[in-house]
Amino acid sequence: MSSAFPLLRSASPVPEAERAAVLAAPGFGRHFTDHMASALWTPQAGWHNRQVTAVRPFSLHPASSVLHYAQEVFEGLKAYRHADGSIWLFRPERNAQRFIRSAGRMGLPPLPEDDFLASIEALVRADEAWVPVATTQESLYLRPFMFASEPFLGVRPAEQVTYAVIASPAQSYFASARGGVTLWVSTAYTRAGQGGTGAAKCGGNYGAGVAAQVEAERHGCDQVLYLDGLDEEAFVEEAGTMNLFLVTSRGELVTPALGTILDGVTRDTVLALATEFDLTPVERPVPFRELCVGIADGTVTEVFAAGTAAVITPVLGIKSTRRTLTVADGEPGKQTQALRDRVLGIQYGRSEDTHGWLRHV
Ligand code: COI
Repeated sequence: MSSAFPLLRSASPVPEAERAAVLAAPGFGRHFTDHMASALWTPQAGWHNRQVTAVRPFSLHPASSVLHYAQEVFEGLKAYRHADGSIWLFRPERNAQRFIRSAGRMGLPPLPEDDFLASIEALVRADEAWVPVATTQESLYLRPFMFASEPFLGVRPAEQVTYAVIASPAQSYFASARGGVTLWVSTAYTRAGQGGTGAAKCGGNYGAGVAAQVEAERHGCDQVLYLDGLDEEAFVEEAGTMNLFLVTSRGELVTPALGTILDGVTRDTVLALATEFDLTPVERPVPFRELCVGIADGTVTEVFAAGTAAVITPVLGIKSTRRTLTVADGEPGKQTQALRDRVLGIQYGRSEDTHGWLRHV
């Protein structure tokens, strides 16, 4: 079975001047390219109808299962233009594998890794002109997603599933942050529990986080720091839509162990690069109390969050109903910046890709 995603109808492209205006200041997730890739799944035909077409609205029956039971999973990855004009993806195979795991958790069919990669490469080729020339952190953000499109109100694995990839030129996710973010410790909301969907990249996890995000903003913070319980005896989980890291005075780079959190591609990348910066990577449960004591007594020297959209974002402070903590001197930490420069350096072809993470499109 071929994984090719043929370009069926070339779109009437957005006029060049309009595209140039978007690429000059793309923001995040606001503007979309000319094309999309898609495919359909049924139990009888498996994955079929692979295609790249003009980007267009879906026509969905109001009974489509996704609208009622949220059977949906997604991914996020980026295409980077290097100084010589070539275009590269960063570890897309890891996104493909996570997409399969997320789909399994939501009772959706696995999309083979070859299809995932072929759909993304076909879309990037069709919309090559939309990959920004990077001045700082511009890239083409790719959003593969899959949802239960079968019109059926029973709760069971859907017998019609739609897969699609759209693309959006993007710059830094935290465009207006003061060099970093502050986190609000939610004791009203958690994002995951044992056996739940915390490790899956499913829309419901993010939709359920909106109320917590609103709460964080009401308290003057940028993002939520989720714990695994509703009091300060709980363990640290994630920072909004990102994984959390601490640098300690003992030279450790500590991050919560996998289980109920997302297995982030940037998380794994940072852990793999840690030793280049004389940091020992440590994945273990992190008690919230230990984080607070460490920030207060200076044994936690830096805190940062990592994710595809946000790359590596310094955490400057943490606030809860009981405390307000500033991490070190409230400025982005040196190791954080060094790791960030290294990750971006590899992605944009400025720094040696020693792990073979880049994939040419
Ligand atoms: C990503 O980093 O790709 C994400 O999934 C974050 C997104 C929800 C904005």
